[in-house]
Amino acid sequence: MNVIIKDIKEAECACDALVLTLCEGEKADVYGETDASLKGLLSHVISTKEFEGKQNQLCLLHSMNSAGPERVLLAGLGKKEEITPERVRQAGGKAVSYLFGLGVKDIALSSAHLLPLGQSPMPFIEGGLLSLYRFRKYKKDKENAEGLERFTIVGKPDKTLFEAAGSVVATVSAVNLARDLVNTPSNDMTPAVLAKTAKGIARGKVSLKVLERSDAEKEGMGAYLSVARGSHEPPKFIVLRYEGVKGVPVALVGKSITFDSGGISIKPGEGMEKMKYDMAGGAVVLAVIKAAAEMRLPAHLLGVLPAAENLPGGGASKPGDVVSTTAGKTVEIISTDAEGRLALADAIAYVKKFRPAVIIDIATLTGACGVALGNEAIAMMGNDEATMERLEAAGDAVYERVWKMPLYDEYLEYIKSDVADLKNSGGRSGSLVTAGYFLKEFVGETPWVHLDIAGTAWTEKDRPYMTKGATGFGVRLLLNFLGR
Ligand code: BES
Ligand code: MN
Ligand code: ZN
Repeated sequence: MNVIIKDIKEAECACDALVLTLCEGEKADVYGETDASLKGLLSHVISTKEFEGKQNQLCLLHSMNSAGPERVLLAGLGKKEEITPERVRQAGGKAVSYLFGLGVKDIALSSAHLLPLGQSPMPFIEGGLLSLYRFRKYKKDKENAEGLERFTIVGKPDKTLFEAAGSVVATVSAVNLARDLVNTPSNDMTPAVLAKTAKGIARGKVSLKVLERSDAEKEGMGAYLSVARGSHEPPKFIVLRYEGVKGVPVALVGKSITFDSGGISIKPGEGMEKMKYDMAGGAVVLAVIKAAAEMRLPAHLLGVLPAAENLPGGGASKPGDVVSTTAGKTVEIISTDAEGRLALADAIAYVKKFRPAVIIDIATLTGACGVALGNEAIAMMGNDEATMERLEAAGDAVYERVWKMPLYDEYLEYIKSDVADLKNSGGRSGSLVTAGYFLKEFVGETPWVHLDIAGTAWTEKDRPYMTKGATGFGVRLLLNFLGR
């Protein structure tokens, strides 16, 4: 699918459907000669209040003209004073999925009614393209699989618009890659499959190294390896590097538990099928590296995915076991279900050797994250205020918002063990932040931010541009952060 930009009159845009946006209270005269060429159809539905420009409201009209757009879709943006890029994105999701449902695959959007409001047309396209994602890999009927044929922006082309269009397409395909990886069930998304996926990304400026179990043993990754002990799936410690520019790397570490049964501390059966999404952090990191390379971002990135499957097999770790770590600290395993921090602790210690400017880990780490923030925000913790502020701004811009949580020194008491240096669970009290604090103990002085996406990586209900299931949450956040 291509996004093209055409400097023509709205009425002359030959397409299956042309979308025109309107804010509540705006008059039909914003459509000028386009309304005239449609014999006053636009002003008619507005004056009869059939279409009022309410947020996410749609009104489909057929032009009945032999030239120009076959249909015109009016799309509401809500109150003018309250307009935000997110509202435009949602309108795009609603409008494009509606048109696609009608079989329309050649869609145009006029930027003329967005630019005067200080809004770019890009969020509309982003929301529109994101809304079309379906996970149909395992369905006999794959009919919806093909996307749009063409998306035209009617407006003045310029270099920035052109570049922005390219990055929207790359961003959406990265989000959809993450969604595909996460939605794929764990029998087909093992650590080995993740490693294979990483191999598919490694070319040009992206290089790959996969540490096998024996390599990880040599690195002293006792905590990470303890997670994989109960499974027949061999662990794969995946290290990607994208060297778009020389210089100090930014390290992205993604939790990559391809299935989290809880291990011996087994989870309740109800809802356990969802624990295939416990590699969502790793999926985000893979997708970000791929898109960064496609977009030629001027960045040097390390992507680390300590992949493993957490099962209660005969060799599995048991509560009370003590494991060693790359960093040298010992950890008492209180719960084999607190496996993410075990894998991440060794991954963080490993990546520190590359002396990154900052480590950002992204993980479906705690159930408490979803309890605290629901689907609406990523929980953020860290020792690097400047990066946290930048992430906050990047998240607000793309509406993948982050909310900062504290890492008070007092939390250390929660995770001190009687027999080892640390324990992997401090119990229920403060479990969102004690998980973060556990990681902090392996970070040392390196600037670091932890992002818990347990609440946001999966949605149970359809949203204006997100169908239920995996969301790819974190991809747009990190790409925007890296592109700033
Ligand atoms: N992967 C889970 C966290 C999770 C729960 C993610 C629900 C998404 C939805 C993690 O490994 C886990 O089990 N955490 C435990 C830790 C506890 C045993 C200290 C939790 O949060 O309950
Ligand atoms: Mn777990
Ligand atoms: Zn987990």
